[in-house]
Amino acid sequence: MLKARNLEAGYGPLRVLKGLSLHVAPGEIVAIIGANGAGKSTLLGSLAGLVRPTSGSVTLRGEDVTGSRPERMLAAGCSLVPEGRKLFAPMTVRENLELGGYSVRRRLGRKAFEEDLAGVFELFPRLGERQGQLAGTMSGGEQQMLAIGRSLMSRPELIMLDEPSMGLAPLVIKQIFSAISALRSRGKTVLVVEQNAKAILKIASRGYVMETGSLVLEGTGQELLANRDVQRAYLGKEYSSIADEREGR
Ligand SMILES: Nc1ncnc2c1ncn2[C@@H]1O[C@H](COP(=O)(O)OP(=O)(O)OP(=O)(O)O)[C@@H](O)[C@H]1O
Ligand SMILES: [Mg+2]
Repeated sequence: MLKARNLEAGYGPLRVLKGLSLHVAPGEIVAIIGANGAGKSTLLGSLAGLVRPTSGSVTLRGEDVTGSRPERMLAAGCSLVPEGRKLFAPMTVRENLELGGYSVRRRLGRKAFEEDLAGVFELFPRLGERQGQLAGTMSGGEQQMLAIGRSLMSRPELIMLDEPSMGLAPLVIKQIFSAISALRSRGKTVLVVEQNAKAILKIASRGYVMETGSLVLEGTGQELLANRDVQRAYLGKEYSSIADEREGR
């Protein structure tokens, strides 16, 4: 579905992506984990057309889309739910979803649009109950649901999520992760950046570990969960003490 080869990108003189390659196959949930500042958002930005790569290539379904603008990536079926959600705060839930579905409605008509809306409300019933509420007054979890819902309204094949669980309480995080799993059963392909490594690797088909602009490790979700380096760096105390014990520390 999506392939990046030797991708390099940055901001002015700052080199952030240092020649990385990745692929996402149809129907996969692919996770990217890594420390703050590793360049994860820059990577998603360069795949979604927000950051222009300085070298390397991006292909979507075999077609070269390197350096394509975000509108073109969206039209090609690749949607980004950005870090911090970026909703239209003074607009209602319904209006945010309508904006997300604007092109589908124009292309395929009102019926298709209404079907998509019903699909979003089925995934997130809370959004259906709160259609008239201003997006900016929704809780953090509800805003994340709305951001995902808005993105779905464009009928993406590939949905990219940047830290969907950020700032949310454990119970809400659970809901978001089960929604991500549900996206796969709806035939979507997912590329997700997450700090919550344990939870995302449990549902991911594959994952990559990113360090300072490079992908340093790749494996299935299970392989990465079982990897000592991953356990020590990203899976917290409970895992690092098990790893230390095994190695006699
Ligand atoms: N718009 C920008 N202009 C200049 N530098 C930027 C910009 N966005 C990001 N950077 C820099 O690029 C580097 C990588 O940032 P990026 O946001 O991609 O990391 P990240 O892995 O997503 O971090 P986090 O986990 O904190 O979200 C950082 O050093 C950051 O300061
Ligand atoms: Mg980021």
